[in-house]
Amino acid sequence: MSISKNDTNEGPSENYEGLTWRQVNHQVVLNHRLQSKQAKLMEPVRTDVLTVTPWMAPIVWEGTFDPLVIDETFRSHNLTIATTVFAVGKYTHFLRDFLESAEKHFMVGLDVHYYVFTDLPGDVPGNITLGLGRLLSIVKVPKFDRWQEISLRRMELIQTAIEDHIYREAHYIFCLDVDMRFHGRVGSEALGRLVAAIHPWFYMYPRSQYPYERRTVSTASVPQDQGDFYYQANIFGGALEDVHRLTKTCREHLEVDKSVGVEAVWQEESHLNWYLVKNKPTKLLSPEYVWDDAKRGKAEEIKLVRFSSVIKNKAEVRENP
Ligand code: GAL
Ligand code: MN
Repeated sequence: MSISKNDTNEGPSENYEGLTWRQVNHQVVLNHRLQSKQAKLMEPVRTDVLTVTPWMAPIVWEGTFDPLVIDETFRSHNLTIATTVFAVGKYTHFLRDFLESAEKHFMVGLDVHYYVFTDLPGDVPGNITLGLGRLLSIVKVPKFDRWQEISLRRMELIQTAIEDHIYREAHYIFCLDVDMRFHGRVGSEALGRLVAAIHPWFYMYPRSQYPYERRTVSTASVPQDQGDFYYQANIFGGALEDVHRLTKTCREHLEVDKSVGVEAVWQEESHLNWYLVKNKPTKLLSPEYVWDDAKRGKAEEIKLVRFSSVIKNKAEVRENP
């Protein structure tokens, strides 16, 4: 990685219509004499799973990083991680467990600014104790009639929130689903310019079977012979500038689709996947980072479930089938 003046935390940066992105220093400097385990070239830590993509992006699995080393690397950068979560309608019920578990496991030791997007500010639990350096803001959003619309509108709302204020306040942003719970560490090992997580239900299948949008009338269409991994939209993130470009592109494509009366099969997740076929993520999170409580049975490769979808009664929390 080249080191230039622009790589410092304070330095100037590229512009998007007047927005100045906060820059991150990517240099790895360890100040303390950490007794980390020696990395042995001839003894790979994981031989059961892919740990690097064909375009040389790491895939984060338990065992591939040393939490002490990675924490030490990032601590000195004084980073703020904006974290968006949408709790519309009855989804506010999920907020307490989401936030309480995030306080135990999510980016512990870093500054986190949660942005809770909701139509019901009064239903956001007020008595959750946040750690030092951690904040919560409520962003009032309209409620759309269908859950599909609520879901896909997130791209637009995240884009707008980045442009309105988040760009000034954070170095990284993570966009998370609320009907989830943290069970294990999700920390600075997950930070990167463009980060996405591999869907827990499809990683063993050939790409022709991924649930991409296939209809060519949609801007999210992916041909049978393309695609790397199928990503779940429940967690994605990265540097503000990169996530802004992603949300803006997806929002534009969602609008084009809407104008011709098409809605992609998995709404904004289909557009996210299209985007990531064209713009490869710089870091991938293994399905440890986006597990599903409904997934039972053996998965030897999953040594640790970190973040997982809770089992919900869809009829009860959604507005429509
Ligand atoms: C489901 C998940 C959806 C979507 C879908 C893709 O398991 O609940 O949100 O990701 O897989 O097929
Ligand atoms: Mn969800």
